[in-house]
Amino acid sequence: MNIRVIHPAELPPREAHALLISCVAPRPIAWVSTCTPDGCTNLAPYSYFTAGGSNPVSVVFSCTNARDGSPKDTLRNIQATGEFVINIAPYWLAEKMNQTSFEYEYGVCEFEQVGLTRAPSLYVKPPRVAESPIAMECKLFQIVPHGTGPTAANYIIGEVICFHIAEHLLKPEGVVDNLAADFIGRMGESWYVRATPEAMFWMERPTRG
Ligand SMILES: Cc1cc2nc3c(=O)[nH]c(=O)nc-3n(C[C@H](O)[C@H](O)[C@H](O)COP(=O)(O)O)c2cc1C
Repeated sequence: MNIRVIHPAELPPREAHALLISCVAPRPIAWVSTCTPDGCTNLAPYSYFTAGGSNPVSVVFSCTNARDGSPKDTLRNIQATGEFVINIAPYWLAEKMNQTSFEYEYGVCEFEQVGLTRAPSLYVKPPRVAESPIAMECKLFQIVPHGTGPTAANYIIGEVICFHIAEHLLKPEGVVDNLAADFIGRMGESWYVRATPEAMFWMERPTRG
């Protein structure tokens, strides 16, 4: 196998982004609902997303600066309110999830634009997506910017205060049935993956015996 060495700092940002998302794949998608300070709701997908720890339960996603260097609505709202909800979109919500990535004007409500229902949260102001079978109410822990200007990262670290899980997906063990959840993930270019049972395999971790 011949290996090519590529230095991302030497690539235009658009090419660096395309290379990065084609290497770090598949990625789960945080479908993030937030509120403006005066209560308008916002919803957008973020696939620079992962869980971080469980004591307390924390998550992180990166909201990059927009191509003109300005902060995206999600970042503005979290900076102003310190609250957000991470919803998970199964395959059947993929199209609507994608539609919410359109760059609407600040204050335009994606729930209304794409026809989704707001369900009130218990501990934070942003609503969850009623159609989504998994949602996590989060309070902001910290925002860590890395870089400046267009496409620079802003790592938004949140503490999960509360999970909302559809009963039909909850196993007696207290976990989500991954065979039934119909998760999707984002990959390179415009590729996505659908976690069908045929695509999965089970592997136990090694033990000390
Ligand atoms: C599947 C998917 C994943 C995305 N992931 C990210 C991401 O991780 N970070 C990011 O800044 N933008 C990401 N985007 C683009 C944002 O969703 C898009 O810029 C959106 O308009 C931001 O909305 P907002 O300004 O309401 O926050 C993604 C888009 C899609 C469709």
